[in-house]
Amino acid sequence: MTETVLLVGGGGREHAIARSLSESDCDLYACAGNRNPGITRIADGFESLDTTNVDAVADYAESVDATLAVIGPETPLAAGVVDALEDVGVYAFGPKRAEARIETDKQFQREFMAEHDIPGCPDFATFDDPEDAAAYIDEYDGHLAVKPTGLTGGKGVRVTGDQITKAEAMEYVRESEYEEFVLEERLVGEEFTLQAFVANGEVRTTPAVQDHKRAYEGDEGPNTGGMGSYSDSIPQLPFMNEADYREAVRIIEATVDALDGYRGVLYGQFMLGADGPRVVEFNARFGDPEAMNTLPVLETDFLDVLTAARDDESLPDLDFAEKATVCKYAVPEGYPTDPKSGAKVRVDEESAGEALLYYASVDARDDGIYTTTSRSFAVVGVGDTIADAEEIAEDALAVAGEEGLRIRHDIGTADLVQKRIDHVNDLRGA
Ligand code: AMP
Ligand code: GLY
Repeated sequence: MTETVLLVGGGGREHAIARSLSESDCDLYACAGNRNPGITRIADGFESLDTTNVDAVADYAESVDATLAVIGPETPLAAGVVDALEDVGVYAFGPKRAEARIETDKQFQREFMAEHDIPGCPDFATFDDPEDAAAYIDEYDGHLAVKPTGLTGGKGVRVTGDQITKAEAMEYVRESEYEEFVLEERLVGEEFTLQAFVANGEVRTTPAVQDHKRAYEGDEGPNTGGMGSYSDSIPQLPFMNEADYREAVRIIEATVDALDGYRGVLYGQFMLGADGPRVVEFNARFGDPEAMNTLPVLETDFLDVLTAARDDESLPDLDFAEKATVCKYAVPEGYPTDPKSGAKVRVDEESAGEALLYYASVDARDDGIYTTTSRSFAVVGVGDTIADAEEIAEDALAVAGEEGLRIRHDIGTADLVQKRIDHVNDLRGA
């Protein structure tokens, strides 16, 4: 029987999932709020809908006789799309709403880690009164990360001593639109992402990736959803050793054990400092951009992972091409604080050359492709080394129309990678 897969979501991550599934023997349908031309071209059918309207997603799944679903973004997970699909008999690879709280509720996430003694948890305290939170910041001995409890698209966290002063953090908790906060010890080091496929109590990890959250080159400016990312031809990154990678895997495994019944991708965001990897956060899905590093080098058939998960079988071992990847996003001018939407994007697909081109939050209309308020498209270079992959990505960008768009050209460059290595070596006193 040919599987019919429904892909939920319309960003760069979902374009990467679609492209990966296009190599599998399945029919692919997709739904999202925007018309991502990369996805609509690959899919056998596409429905424009609000993916947090879980009944609409379930209706569409039924109408196309979906035998499986894959959920890309966190917002439909938070809205309970997996539960709604299960109610109409469609297995979705993604956590149910209760399990997705590991991402969607930062208070739950930290309390869960503490309760189950999961290693790598920073000191934290939770608040539902901004005044109490401000008083805690004032009295806290050291710097902190200030996190709104709910989803903020990666843009709600403020770190003192890094982006803002403690006085500004006190003002932030008092003045922002958020009411509930987790305040935690500021972790220092280099961040990395470890994503794992999880189902039936099993965990299959993928190579580590480093994303770049800050909007501008040199890690300046506000936090974004991620401006670009790189991975190496081995599971570790250049600033990590094998033991660091293994420790991150151990933390993911301990979390999956404690979650009991989790399925989908579990994404660990780690900070590597003097004491080894500590947990910045968990996400209940692939990273965006990280999926664009991971899926192009996955040699195992993605559909085999999905059907094994659904059919209660052992997950296949994962093979990865021993290649490095560099992903660079083009984002609308003004992103993330004041993004200019509705600008026409001119992407010359032919000139992407060897690089992979992924469309993200753009909208394809009759007369062209337009920016929305989020990231527009990404190019991914795949090569033997990070330097090779970076060159391929940069060559592709040089010929892509950049009008009205901004790119962090420093991602994956030798200078920036060396800075990461030096940073961790400094912290470790090496
Ligand atoms: P999150 O929304 O939890 O991914 O946080 C966004 C970004 O804030 C992370 O990628 C980190 O760069 C930073 N961050 C979050 N928590 C901490 C922490 N405890 N210490 C230092 N930085 C943090
Ligand atoms: N790249 C960060 C995220 O997907 O949350």
